[in-house]
Amino acid sequence: MNEENKCPKRNKPKSQDDMIQLTENVNRFDDLKFNRRAFLKTAVGATVALGLSTLPFSVKAFLGDFEDEKELVEIVKLDSLPPGSSVTFNYPTENDPALLVHTKAGELKAYNSACTHLMCPVFYEKESEVLLCPCHKGYFDLNNGHPLAGPPQRELPLIELEVQNEVVYAVGRKIRHG
Ligand code: FES
Repeated sequence: MNEENKCPKRNKPKSQDDMIQLTENVNRFDDLKFNRRAFLKTAVGATVALGLSTLPFSVKAFLGDFEDEKELVEIVKLDSLPPGSSVTFNYPTENDPALLVHTKAGELKAYNSACTHLMCPVFYEKESEVLLCPCHKGYFDLNNGHPLAGPPQRELPLIELEVQNEVVYAVGRKIRHG
């Protein structure tokens, strides 16, 4: 019995040939093939899962656009609203008072008219082209509904308009700052 057999050292290669045997059962091309297959399976699974999880949002977005197209409420004929005048209406429900203004510059602006302070009605002040809440002297910018002065801190909800055949319609509403 020679010295090496009496006390073998574990994991110590005996020769360069032993090292080659350790790796010869790992085929590089098989390894790549299996890794690629596993990756593709994971990628496809993740894509399907992501698609399914976002499906409700896609359906809602589709239906939401469709509902917007249906919601078209007539406000007034344009020839009965000369520049520098306003008219009240309700939108989107009968309980939501609103104000449409034809500005002196010829633009159409509409907002829900309940003041964002304590809900008093807001009026169009022709001389200074602002929206005024007389309850506590709150002022709103006619161009964007932002509060200008007084107690109100939030914008008036903006009503989106469309003119078709010289008739003004409300087609949607944007509530900014909740
Ligand atoms: S309710 Fe409009 S300013 Fe107070």
